[in-house]
Amino acid sequence: MSDFLRPLAELRERHSSKWRRYPADVLPMHVAEMDYEIAPQIKNLLIDFVQRSDLGYIGPIPEVAEGFVAFAQRHWGWTPDAKQIRIATDVSVGTVEILRAITQPGDRVLINTPVYAAFFGWLREVGCEVADVPLIPDLETWRLDLQGIERAFQDGVKYYLLCSPHNPMGRVHEQHELEAIANLAHRYGVVVISDEIHAPLTYRDQKFVPYLSVSDAARETGVVVTAASKSFNLAGLKASIIVTQSATMAERIGGVVPDIHWRSGILGGFAMAEAFTSCDDWLAQAVEANRANRDLLTRLVSERLPGVPYWVAQGGYLAWLDLSSLNLGDNPATRILEEKRISLVPGIDLGADYGQYVRINFACSAEAIEQTVSAIASYL
Ligand SMILES: Cc1ncc(COP(=O)(O)O)c(C=O)c1O
Repeated sequence: MSDFLRPLAELRERHSSKWRRYPADVLPMHVAEMDYEIAPQIKNLLIDFVQRSDLGYIGPIPEVAEGFVAFAQRHWGWTPDAKQIRIATDVSVGTVEILRAITQPGDRVLINTPVYAAFFGWLREVGCEVADVPLIPDLETWRLDLQGIERAFQDGVKYYLLCSPHNPMGRVHEQHELEAIANLAHRYGVVVISDEIHAPLTYRDQKFVPYLSVSDAARETGVVVTAASKSFNLAGLKASIIVTQSATMAERIGGVVPDIHWRSGILGGFAMAEAFTSCDDWLAQAVEANRANRDLLTRLVSERLPGVPYWVAQGGYLAWLDLSSLNLGDNPATRILEEKRISLVPGIDLGADYGQYVRINFACSAEAIEQTVSAIASYL
């Protein structure tokens, strides 16, 4: 066991949702947290703040925008304008507040199921309706249905909550797809909110493309909400950024409460700045660990779960499996939890049509991945 990945007994001492939601005999493979140690630079920064009792309200923190601009340059060859980057509590609050500022109750918001379960709650919270254009699966991955998206825009949908990269199957949308969305959004007067929280975890053989980098049409129509929380394992610190790159969009989201900055925390803000500024080595290690785990899972699924459709992630640490052929009843995840003591995310949470699917978090040990696949294989 390395310093990077601690033993299961030690992980069970953690206080986060992953380790507290279920009884101690359950192997948690559900919520999107990684079992890795955080970057030493961030650990030292947090210790330093605590040791100096430097725990007041978050003030001006230009280090975040500067850090994100430099990160985007190094990783994606994109240089956003730092002046249009602002802090928010987390990606959930940032997105909800943008929606609250630009939509009216009853408005329809486009999403692409299967998608991160909280999207449904965010839309409910602001009184918006779901307009679903599901992703289309092929043997390789799940892709955006560009024709379906255009039909929805023609039908009057004015808001689009894009998940890029896409949770749950780790699809990294391609440049031409994002360009097409931007052109459509421009033509039909649609605002695109691009949730890019998983972006830094894209594998090195793939290319993540920030929505706001693709064209003027994207900058005129888009706002990005992102954070270091997912990719640097800092979810409990609560900090994110909202990014626009045009006067039009800055004005459009001008109604987002200014207080959203102060509703973040000093530790989260400075940890995010540190993550974007000086933790590339750690990130490379985490991405490589995830990719190796992805390869292990891919091999185990092909060897031990014949007939179970599964799509190879292009980034991140989530896998999406269709367990229909196992005949596990209405909710396979519930059955696996009860009988095998392993918690997976039920597909139904990610869209009404996906009751037979499960989402697995593979940012863990090889043993945990093997135990999960063996448990599922025992139903064959
Ligand atoms: C696509 C996506 N957006 C947002 C979040 C949550 O972000 P936050 O904790 O910053 O609200 C997650 C968490 O898994 C996610 O997968």
